[in-house]
Amino acid sequence: MPEINFLYFKKSADFVRGIIKDEPEIGIILGSGLKSIAGRIENPVVIDYKDIPNFLVSTVESHEGRLIFGSLGGKKVICMSGRFHHYEGYPFEMLTLPIRLFKLLGVKKTIVTNAAGAVNTEYNVGDIMIIKDHLKLTGASPLQGDNIEEFGPRFFDTTDMYTKALREIAKDCAKDSELTFREGVYMYFTGPQFETPAEIRAARILGADAVGMSTVTEALTAAHCSMPLLGLSVMTNMAAGVLDRKLTDEEVGETATRISKPFCDYVEKLISRL
Ligand code: HPA
Repeated sequence: MPEINFLYFKKSADFVRGIIKDEPEIGIILGSGLKSIAGRIENPVVIDYKDIPNFLVSTVESHEGRLIFGSLGGKKVICMSGRFHHYEGYPFEMLTLPIRLFKLLGVKKTIVTNAAGAVNTEYNVGDIMIIKDHLKLTGASPLQGDNIEEFGPRFFDTTDMYTKALREIAKDCAKDSELTFREGVYMYFTGPQFETPAEIRAARILGADAVGMSTVTEALTAAHCSMPLLGLSVMTNMAAGVLDRKLTDEEVGETATRISKPFCDYVEKLISRL
């Protein structure tokens, strides 16, 4: 792993700023199969991850590797179409990159989306969960190692990590969506294997409503640098063991595609109100 310090992140941000020549207000990170939002961005300036110095590349097929700047819902946005996960082999510390890039570009609020398995048996496939809090019982943190004071303090608060004020707007916008919205707790598992039925039973006992392999690294990085954050999970499947059958990546993709239109409509409206 390279030595990562403030200048490491600044190098990526200086490069991107030189191309977009403007300040984005809202950052968006798109989850698996949810990339169609990126297609709605007007006057897009597109940068391939591989061209950004010190950046990473997405190795997952359903994740494009493009950073897109433009307008959506009347706001200037910067969107990561394709995210990075620990299961791709990236050390946790490197997963701070997207949010820190956003921070250095001047982003004021970030929305993260993901595909997740529903643990709460009252939820249905296709529901959207506004993330209220998360559980991460794996030891490592993206903020481990030398603290970079320019971003935030060594020890930092996570009580309002999924910012209440943004969740309220998200709930209000949900009123005229055809989708069903919930608010709940997301539990992080490193993957890439889907969880075992026993892990899902344990997650339920611990208070999880949904499980997934992303988002918490970005949320912790956002809390560290005081970036307001909203997390939206699409229930692409019932979690392992809830139904008496095997889980496949295809069903994750199918659900994401099915709800794509109303979900994009919702996100666009939400952005206009942030
Ligand atoms: N578990 C973990 N990650 C996921 C799932 C799941 O059931 N569905 C989509 N992403």
